[in-house]
Amino acid sequence: MLMNNMISPLDITKASDLLRRGGLVAFPTETVYGLGGDATNEAALRKIFMAKERPFDHPLIVHLADINQLSDWARDVSSDALKLAKACWPGPLTMVLKKQPGVLDVVTGGQDTIGIRIPRHAAAQALLREFGGGIAAPSANRFTRISPTTALAVKEELGNRIDFILDGGHCEVGLESTIIDMSRDEPVILRPGMITPAFLANVLGKPIAVASNEPVRSPGMHHLHYAPRTKTQLVAIDAIADVLHQLTPEDLPTVFVVRSDDAMLHTQHVHWVKMPQDPIQYAHDLYRTLRSLDGEHFKSIIIEEVPNTPEWDAIRDRLAKASAPRS
Ligand code: TXA
Ligand code: MG
Repeated sequence: MLMNNMISPLDITKASDLLRRGGLVAFPTETVYGLGGDATNEAALRKIFMAKERPFDHPLIVHLADINQLSDWARDVSSDALKLAKACWPGPLTMVLKKQPGVLDVVTGGQDTIGIRIPRHAAAQALLREFGGGIAAPSANRFTRISPTTALAVKEELGNRIDFILDGGHCEVGLESTIIDMSRDEPVILRPGMITPAFLANVLGKPIAVASNEPVRSPGMHHLHYAPRTKTQLVAIDAIADVLHQLTPEDLPTVFVVRSDDAMLHTQHVHWVKMPQDPIQYAHDLYRTLRSLDGEHFKSIIIEEVPNTPEWDAIRDRLAKASAPRS
């Protein structure tokens, strides 16, 4: 049987064996590709941080196949957390929960909590089932860079630093999971994702707070994160024509990333990329688009702002980070 027309059971076995031996395997999830290691093997996890060039105090998400494994990793799981698990797993939600005492500090960044997710991508599920334990996996990119949504992007980011890449095609969601902290008295969203606060609030029957800035707990909240190398700026649709006219020869070639055809004005050395109007499609395409534009020789990437409505929250968050001022 082939999964996703691409991943064979042989590949799953190979990946699982590598993980058992302390190797690093990149694998597809429905959000982005993860860089996986055995969540109980400290040496393997240290290699993840080295490969990503990521500071050691940033915690990793542990991926599980099944909710039956939850109690191996988390304790005092509230009934609200279980409701969210039932509603969203397998899927693009990470829950921060109180950790079991045996969980390694390298997983949690020395905190008393652990991030857990059950992904739904068929290849991730197959790998997790074959491996049998928890797979700790951050996104498979170098620190501060855009998360990979294809196997080729993983190769560009981490190439020979890792042992194997499972190619599961382009990730369905395209943005990292929503992270909700369920370890405190009240739930708090730490990182917006395509599962919205409104959806989660509806499941729990109460409003849910969204953290504005807690940089220490979640590195996804760092100022410069998910960023292309090319200078990137956000512009309101009404300002596009002005920005275009103010470009000087040193600014060229430039690319504009817009959602509406009317914004596209033809000018020499100015390229236009049309993005979807629908937020789900936009999220799916965003990182792939930014990564490909970053690989060309544009002096800058200018992105049309997206609507200020909840279904665009996660996208606005990533665009703000991609365009944050560089130090
Ligand atoms: O969609 C995703 O979540 C992807 C796929 C591979 O699952 N993973 C991902 O991992 O985005 P990473 O490491 O790039 O981002 C995980 C975020 C980080 O911001 C980290 O700080 C946060 O999860 N996190 C993990 N454990 C945490 C904890 N115990 N408390 C607070 N934040 C935590
Ligand atoms: Mg990441």
